[in-house]
Amino acid sequence: MSSDDQLSLFNDSTVDPTTPPVSQTKLIPTSAKIPIPAGTYETMTQLAQHCNECHRCGLGENRHHAVVGRGNFQADIMIIGEAPGQNEDETGLPFVGRAGQLLEKILASVKLDPEHDIYICNIIKCRPPNNRVPTTEEVAACKPYLLEQIRLVDPKIILFTGATSVKGLTGNKQGITKIRGTWIEWEGRLCMPILHPAYLLRNPAREQGSPKWLMWQDIQEVRQKLDEIRASSK
Ligand code: URA
Repeated sequence: MSSDDQLSLFNDSTVDPTTPPVSQTKLIPTSAKIPIPAGTYETMTQLAQHCNECHRCGLGENRHHAVVGRGNFQADIMIIGEAPGQNEDETGLPFVGRAGQLLEKILASVKLDPEHDIYICNIIKCRPPNNRVPTTEEVAACKPYLLEQIRLVDPKIILFTGATSVKGLTGNKQGITKIRGTWIEWEGRLCMPILHPAYLLRNPAREQGSPKWLMWQDIQEVRQKLDEIRASSK
């Protein structure tokens, strides 16, 4: 099927509205030119199926697994990282390497449970070669999946780990050390950029003002805000 044919299938207003949506999940939007409108996916399982068959950019050629997300599909906090690394590509799960283990410790330090309180994913779903930073084209091709994930989870708070994550979703190109720990609004959602755990691994100092100390301040602020939000929605 040519990409033009796919495009018309995705946009076809003449499609019988009684057609079960499950038939659409068989149409993988294989070109980045093909839109993935909001509401395309009813479940994360459908979305994950498309991601695992996706070739909207070149990264699909070499992946072992698309790394879609893990945690609670109804979590209050969504953490968005940069891109899968080798461990993630092998397992199909985000943040399972050393950076992920540190992230879990950080969450546990304020009693946030990755299985219950958190849904974790990345700006792009497939591992870039040699863990290079994703290109603008790769981010753009993958973005509709992320937007659908945000719609489905509907988190109360979004945390961006690192500059690539903030820039990938919001377009904000400010340095992460400048904007970390500040609440920003994106599309009516409460978001906070935080340092990437891999950066903390490279900077193990703990004194006041160090990256680890800053992360400790930020995660406590996130915990406090979540408690306030939960208390006010009771
Ligand atoms: N693992 C991920 O899944 N994402 C990152 O950003 C880093 C490590």
